[in-house]
Amino acid sequence: MDWNEIREKARQNMKGYCRGCKRCDGVACAGEVPGMGGTGTGNSFIENIKALDRWKVKLKTLHDVLKPDISTSFLGYKVKMPIFAAPMTGLKGNAGGYLSERDYDTMAAEACKNVGTIFMSGDANDKDMYPAGIDAIKTTSVLGIPFSKPRTVDEIIEKARIAKEAGAIAFGVDVDGAGLIMMIRSGQFVGPKSRKEIEEIVKNIELPLILKGIMTPEEAEIAAESGAKAIVVSNHGGRVLDFTEGTADVLPDIAKAVGGKIEILVDGGVRTGIDVLKMLSLGAKAVLIGRPIMIAAHGGGREAIEFYFKKVSDELYQAMILTGCKDLKNVPELYKAS
Ligand SMILES: Cc1cc2nc3c(=O)[nH]c(=O)nc-3n(C[C@H](O)[C@H](O)[C@H](O)COP(=O)(O)O)c2cc1C
Repeated sequence: MDWNEIREKARQNMKGYCRGCKRCDGVACAGEVPGMGGTGTGNSFIENIKALDRWKVKLKTLHDVLKPDISTSFLGYKVKMPIFAAPMTGLKGNAGGYLSERDYDTMAAEACKNVGTIFMSGDANDKDMYPAGIDAIKTTSVLGIPFSKPRTVDEIIEKARIAKEAGAIAFGVDVDGAGLIMMIRSGQFVGPKSRKEIEEIVKNIELPLILKGIMTPEEAEIAAESGAKAIVVSNHGGRVLDFTEGTADVLPDIAKAVGGKIEILVDGGVRTGIDVLKMLSLGAKAVLIGRPIMIAAHGGGREAIEFYFKKVSDELYQAMILTGCKDLKNVPELYKAS
């Protein structure tokens, strides 16, 4: 298998919804939401890539790091790599319908199980989307984490109950979906969550709560104080609000504010092993990858997703040797290009 072949097959199968670009950077698909792009001008998606590009590493080879350890843990669960599959839904509206929600969730969950990492599933306006992820977690016994949209508190608590029953290890809410017009137009409530509401959710669910879509130290503090166990620093891949900062730019201040109090994940524009190492150096415990996993699924199914995980984890391994980083507790210092 070869990544260029996978991209080309994905391009054909995604029927114009994704161009399978050499670098998935949000330029060709700017504004394509629904679709695979970033919202509006596409600036927030593109900014995720640019923010990561501004951080540089120092090449070091006069040391004794020969076999770096890329394993880590999240919420007490051991994983073979700090690279997780992000929640992805809307296969028809965003990717052309070549794969169903169930096809995608099942192959992504199986791939995550096989490579020893965490699978996340999503939720949106179609009522089958959340159950598709839940069923994939149940049938594969992967370390799985379903995410609910920021629905009413009662609906969220019910979705967490379903997640617990399916054997999920944690449960999340993508709070940055608070203004999603496709939810509102289809008559389903989504909205911002107050500190009191988050506390109520934490009190009434049995799984650790993860809040996805945190972009400021202040909101990270609220998440930690309200009892959430982890956050995902994310702008939803630039799909919900135009002109946000890139996640690699906001991560260091968030890590400074809540590192040690809560576990921190990040996503947005992570494509290669060096991107993973940079995000870890900026304060994340692990990263989520979205679009490339969707592209792999369309270009070669489960095997192509596994191929992609292997490719990125090999790149991470190599980058650790070349920066003298023996394990993920000893990540290199980064420098910002002037
Ligand atoms: C087509 C598409 C569907 C998505 N669906 C969801 C979803 O249902 N729930 C969610 O929390 N995030 C969703 N996301 C956001 C991803 O989980 C993730 O935050 C983002 O894609 C990361 O950026 P990247 O694609 O540049 O890696 C979606 C993103 C895309 C591109």
